[in-house]
Amino acid sequence: GRCVVAVDGPSGSGKSTVSRRLAVGIGARYLDTGAMYRAMTWAVLRSGVDPADAESVAKVAGEADLRIGTDPQGYGVTVDGTSVDAEIRGPEVTAAVSAVAAVAAVRALLVARQRDMIANAGRIVVEGRDIGSVVAPDADLKVYLTASEAARAARRSAEDATDVAATAADLARRDRLDSTRKADPLQQSADAVVLDTTELGIDEVVDRLRDLLVE
Ligand code: CDP
Repeated sequence: GRCVVAVDGPSGSGKSTVSRRLAVGIGARYLDTGAMYRAMTWAVLRSGVDPADAESVAKVAGEADLRIGTDPQGYGVTVDGTSVDAEIRGPEVTAAVSAVAAVAAVRALLVARQRDMIANAGRIVVEGRDIGSVVAPDADLKVYLTASEAARAARRSAEDATDVAATAADLARRDRLDSTRKADPLQQSADAVVLDTTELGIDEVVDRLRDLLVE
C-alpha cells in the first residue's frame, strides 16, 4: 500500500545513505530533494545570474526543465536534457545552493513537484530538510537525523576527500543559512522520531527505522 517516509536533517547526518538503503530494503522509491535544489543551483550558475538575486533566480528556476528519477539504486538528474549528476556535487554548486534554496519562489516550485512525485509513488522515502514539516506533513513516518558537528564534518570530508576544517566551516555556514531562512527553514517536526547517529552505524539506523515502520 501507500507509505511515505520523511527523512530530514542537516548535512553529514547520514540522511542520504540511510534513506537509500531503507528504500531498497522496503522496496520503495526514493526522492533526493537536495539534488533538486542543487540542480536548480546549477541552472542558476550556468545562466550567469547572481544566486543572491532572488528575482532572477526565480526566473531561471521557472524556465529550467528539471527531471529526477526515483530509483534508490541510481537516479539521474537532468536540466534541459543535460545530465548534471556529477556537477551538482561540485564545490561551486555547494557554495551557492543555500542561497538558491532560500528563494521562496524556487521552494514553491520544487515543493509542488515533490508533492506530485510523492502522490504518484506507492511507497517512497523522501529526504531533505522540510519534508516532515512542509512537503509531506502527513507522512507515515517522520525521521530527523542528527549527529555531532565533528562526526558530520568527518563523514562529509571522507566522502569527498576535502579538508576536515574546511568541510566543518562549510557545514556550519549552510546549517546557519538553512535554519535561519524565512522560507521553510530546516526544523525538527514535533512528531518526528529523532535519531542521533553520532555513535550509530548506518545498519543500526536503517534497522531502527524498519522496526518503526512495522510497529
Ligand atoms: O547532502 P547535503 O546535506 O550536503 O545537501 P543536500 O541534501 O544535497 O541539500 C543541499 C542544500 O539544498 C541544503 O543545504 C539546503 O540549502 C537545500 N535543501 C533545502 O533547502 N530543502 C530540502 N528539502 C533539501 C535541500
